[in-house]
Amino acid sequence: MPDSPRTILVCVAWPYANTPLHAGQIAGAYLPADIFARYHRMRGDRVLMVSGSDAHGTPVTLRAEQEGTTPLAIFERMHSSFVDTFERLGISFDIFTSTNTEDHVEVTQDIFERLLERDYIYEAEQTLLYDPKANRFLPDRYVEGTCPHCGDPGARGDQCDHCGRALDATELLQPRSRLSDATPEPLPTNHFFLRLSAFNERLREWVEPQAHWRPAVRNFTLGLLREGLHDRAITRDIEWGVPIPLEGYEQKRIYVWFEAVIGYLSATKEWAERSGDPSAWEAFWRDPEARSYYFQGKDNITFHTTIWPAMLMGYEGLNLPYDVPANQYVTMSGSKASSSRNWAVWMPDYLERHDPDPLRYTLTAIMPETSDTDFTWAEHLRRNNDELVARWGNLVHRVLTLTRRHFDARVPEPPDELAANSRELLARLDAAFDAVGAAIEQVQLRHALGAAFAVAQAANRYLDERAPWTAVRTDRASAAETLHTAINVVSGIATLLQPFLPFTSPEAWRLAGNAGSIEAAGWRRTPVAAGTPLPEPAPLFRKLDDSIVAEEEARLGR
Ligand code: MF3
Ligand code: ZN
Repeated sequence: MPDSPRTILVCVAWPYANTPLHAGQIAGAYLPADIFARYHRMRGDRVLMVSGSDAHGTPVTLRAEQEGTTPLAIFERMHSSFVDTFERLGISFDIFTSTNTEDHVEVTQDIFERLLERDYIYEAEQTLLYDPKANRFLPDRYVEGTCPHCGDPGARGDQCDHCGRALDATELLQPRSRLSDATPEPLPTNHFFLRLSAFNERLREWVEPQAHWRPAVRNFTLGLLREGLHDRAITRDIEWGVPIPLEGYEQKRIYVWFEAVIGYLSATKEWAERSGDPSAWEAFWRDPEARSYYFQGKDNITFHTTIWPAMLMGYEGLNLPYDVPANQYVTMSGSKASSSRNWAVWMPDYLERHDPDPLRYTLTAIMPETSDTDFTWAEHLRRNNDELVARWGNLVHRVLTLTRRHFDARVPEPPDELAANSRELLARLDAAFDAVGAAIEQVQLRHALGAAFAVAQAANRYLDERAPWTAVRTDRASAAETLHTAINVVSGIATLLQPFLPFTSPEAWRLAGNAGSIEAAGWRRTPVAAGTPLPEPAPLFRKLDDSIVAEEEARLGR
């Protein structure tokens, strides 16, 4: 592993400010990004984790219309809900801003103007769907219909969730207006287009050699490029959004997807300004050694592997994505999450009733890195009780209560030479720092968590083998060695788990006799010396009662 600090930009998809966050979005983007960022910070790398609320677009305006309020009011309410969720779930953004800022408008308009100058953006007449009853054009999600690619009847005017393709509303078969249910009529109007067709070859040359990308992401993208990218309209007939920096276009706005992806750059610039060094953004975007990772769900892939890279290529001088570790979906008790059917674990509700680390644990254990996975409350309860409580929490508790009881609450003295099984366990722990670290760097977080937990399992077996609770009466030196070793192993496992379980790991680390910050101590085992006093242990996790399964399931779909 390289020793010198690396520069890593962690970009996380910007959530539409139309509904609170649900567990599927957390598992898809926010949690993997957070684990990755926390690990790299502990490694001493220079990390910046950015995102913000996606304030614009038809998801937000449609919600405002349904509620009889303004898009701004919806955005503000949801933005504070997001900030609260991230804080309580420990999602450690360096900046979580929004697309509703002056900085963002400025950066967006600059990119628009430069691409226009270079003829990568051009104006053209476009036939769009017009609602004759509501007397207005129907952008994106204002139209629903049948997907021309896969035939799914629930496709929207911006994309098809079923096959993942980006669409123009006019491509939909059997279109209908969501405002009036009328069949919309095609009418000509003028818009700006991004000349994606000009980038097809360059994108292919760039994507082809990305051997470290997930096969699903790379193959999906190569498939799009094989079909050939079409130029896409990047302005809309809508009032809520970033204004077009040209006279005569006061009635139109820049398309939400064109500007939202720019948020990664504008957020970095905003962070730099706030940090007091306005040029600090350049280290993340201009240094060719800097790496950017874009965390998101699979429905966002095309925007991050074709459209945003094309915009960056056209603009020039800014880093292209290094990796786009998109996840598949987490379904809920067998069905796709849906806000209209209230089929989701809503984060504000969850965090009212439960602790953050157990959910972080389960969502990492089932993270949909290669295929869709399913969350059930029964499985969550099992993982909480059998894995967190029984395997890890009890290990910490057993070791510390025994030491307090029999060794006067101090780390016992080890022998001059450790027994083979003690040395093996410590060697296994040390090796886990490399193995878990390597898995996190490859964004294989399920595997990384499993490798960290395997050390806890080995430590439990070691305790059972050496039975210090008996040895303390028959062979006190052996019990001292066991507990000395086990306390050091608990200290190390706490560090290994810190990126995954940032609320309980500092506590486990402190219980093992450490002082100061677990994160500042870095990605290494911090040895705990004989004689170190140990604090009174308290349980790290609560056992969940079987009754919560039925209670929580009853909330779904109502
Ligand atoms: N708002 C989009 C969604 O929730 C994601 C936007 S990602 C961005 O699907 F990069 F464009 F912001
Ligand atoms: Zn489709």
